[in-house]
Amino acid sequence: MNAIVLPQPDDLASNRTPTTPMLEIRNLHVSYGKTQALHGVDLMVQQGEVIALIGANGAGKSTTLRTISGLLKPTQGQIIYQGNNIAGVSADRIVAQGIAQSPEERHIWPTMTVYENLTLGAYLCKKDAEVERRVALVYDRFSRLKERHRQLAGTLSGGEQQMLAIGRALMSEPSLLLLDEPVWAESAHGRGGL
Ligand SMILES: Nc1ncnc2c1ncn2[C@@H]1O[C@H](COP(=O)(O)OP(=O)(O)OP(=O)(O)O)[C@@H](O)[C@H]1O
Ligand SMILES: [Mg+2]
Repeated sequence: MNAIVLPQPDDLASNRTPTTPMLEIRNLHVSYGKTQALHGVDLMVQQGEVIALIGANGAGKSTTLRTISGLLKPTQGQIIYQGNNIAGVSADRIVAQGIAQSPEERHIWPTMTVYENLTLGAYLCKKDAEVERRVALVYDRFSRLKERHRQLAGTLSGGEQQMLAIGRALMSEPSLLLLDEPVWAESAHGRGGL
């Protein structure tokens, strides 16, 4: 598994602070029971950078993202996010610290509407007006979702469900957005995409 830095949008590149990594992973080991999936992963992400994890099926890309999100606990290693080691911190506390993930499996709620799924992504925000502002931003980026505002999420197409999973992750206004196998690129409109 390799990490490559993708070309940076100009506005992000100009905001970078190269000396302070936003995220630094050191010697990360993760196991599923007796099966070890990660054998010492090192990774660094600077503020404003877009990083792609490249690797074969089973290389450990999703495992790495799930561990950063707090869904898996490492057996060894550190995940330094904005100066703090968050390895082993619970997933809800990690969302509160500004990390959100759009998972490979999407995990949308199929019997709830597009709008309801999005609002759940902002569950930490207690101000209705702020939640509505964020929904409007997501609809600005994904007009397909706006058109399907009241549609049950389980009836969306696969790509539309992927957009919803990404939109829901954006609803927490994360500082660090983790996208596992996004297929949305052709469909993100407005405000320069993501
Ligand atoms: N819940 C699990 N229980 C046991 N082993 C698992 C589990 N999830 C993943 N693994 C194993 O961990 C390894 C890494 O899997 P992971 O899903 O991180 O790979 P990946 O790089 O995301 O692959 P893909 O490109 O197919 O999505 C694989 O060998 C996989 O079989
Ligand atoms: Mg995967």
